[in-house]
Amino acid sequence: MDSKLFDLSQRVAVVSGGSRGIGQAIAELLAAHGAHVVVSSRRAEGVEESAAAIRGQGGSAEAAVCHAGKTDDIDRLVKQVTDQHGRLDILVNNAAANPYFGPILETDPSAADKTIEVNMRGYFHFTKQVGAYMRDHGGGSIVNIASVNGVRPAPWQGIYSITKAAVINMTQAFARECAPNNIRVNAVLPGLTDTKFASAITKNEKVLKNVLPLIPMGRVAQPEEIAPAVLFLVSDAATYVTGVCLPVDGGFLT
Ligand SMILES: NC(=O)c1ccc[n+]([C@@H]2O[C@H](COP(=O)([O-])OP(=O)(O)OC[C@H]3O[C@@H](n4cnc5c(N)ncnc54)[C@H](OP(=O)(O)O)[C@@H]3O)[C@@H](O)[C@H]2O)c1
Repeated sequence: MDSKLFDLSQRVAVVSGGSRGIGQAIAELLAAHGAHVVVSSRRAEGVEESAAAIRGQGGSAEAAVCHAGKTDDIDRLVKQVTDQHGRLDILVNNAAANPYFGPILETDPSAADKTIEVNMRGYFHFTKQVGAYMRDHGGGSIVNIASVNGVRPAPWQGIYSITKAAVINMTQAFARECAPNNIRVNAVLPGLTDTKFASAITKNEKVLKNVLPLIPMGRVAQPEEIAPAVLFLVSDAATYVTGVCLPVDGGFLT
């Protein structure tokens, strides 16, 4: 087997929402395989800590503040990275919002807007801008972090589930159209993962007791168990893989 299949040396990667949770695990793993990683999120402190931790482990990383729902922020980040490095090989759309937990018929319009702003408009704009750069510079690889809830809507997470279904469709739409430009676009669908995002479920014993029996493996994932799927999809091990939506869910969707 080619030992360099997972080698990301010389490649520049942007990971949105890289300051903690799944995004941080992805940023660390891509850097461990040689990529220079631009760790981005809204708060400078978080991304700087995350980038410094990667450098402390011998990797190459920098921090960049970017609200993943704001098109101006995204444009600025893409310009900054491409001006500075002269390349952008990998984008991981990971930052997402989930501000509302409750009955779908009671969804507050501002919570719906916020969820759509980050999870749909943000993913779409990021992919479009980076995709256009990749088209003009030989190609690249994009991975969208969707969710099992994009396939099977979660109770009381209606608008969130709807945006994640859109991410799945978006992945396939970009994958089809951008394949001739040597751009691969895939998605990872995490199941319930032990992060701040999911703490309302994972840290509530009563809720968790009802949820765990729905997962054949009977447990919650760790962020480090989601990241290797992203590494595979961005690597040369997946040069013929595009438009795939890969559940990493302990069997939840089976
Ligand atoms: N945890 C789960 O059970 C689970 C399951 C399925 C799918 N997912 C998906 O996995 C992805 C990561 O979730 P997670 O569980 O790792 O969440 P997390 O631990 O809460 O981390 C979220 C990250 O996103 C950043 N962020 C939040 N809003 C942002 C925005 N508007 N612009 C830029 N950055 C933003 C946060 O940093 P700042 O606060 O500094 O911005 C942080 O770095 C999301 O797409 C989520 O939908 C999670």
